[in-house]
Amino acid sequence: MPFVITDPCIGTKDSACVDVCPVDCIHPRKDEPEFAQATMLYIHPDECIDCGACVPACPVAAIYDSPDSTPASQKALIEANAIYRAGDAGAVAKAEEIVKSHEAAHPDLMAVPPAERAAAHAK
Ligand code: F3S
Ligand code: F3S
Repeated sequence: MPFVITDPCIGTKDSACVDVCPVDCIHPRKDEPEFAQATMLYIHPDECIDCGACVPACPVAAIYDSPDSTPASQKALIEANAIYRAGDAGAVAKAEEIVKSHEAAHPDLMAVPPAERAAAHAK
């Protein structure tokens, strides 16, 4: 079961997760052209080997260890992680569309500072 990045990454994009991932499955990296435009980063489920290194690296606890453990409010972002492909303009646009609709559907979470959003997921 792949790991999933969720909404504390929005507005944070710390990228510490990218630096520790042994299989380079988190994108866009800072050195990829899409980094500036991407609202958040994504883990591709087919490439993630479930090593777990990214979880403690993230300063805002944005990463869950499986789709099953991803909180209900974050479920739409599972698909955004799966769709996103660096270098594929169509896939990037679709993932970003999902993120935009997630933001619109959860103004309560978006109003919380990113560092406190993971704690708010449980409420
Ligand atoms: Fe990489 Fe995290 Fe998966 S470090 S391999 S994305 S569990
Ligand atoms: Fe985002 Fe956390 Fe990685 S903020 S970029 S998931 S380290």
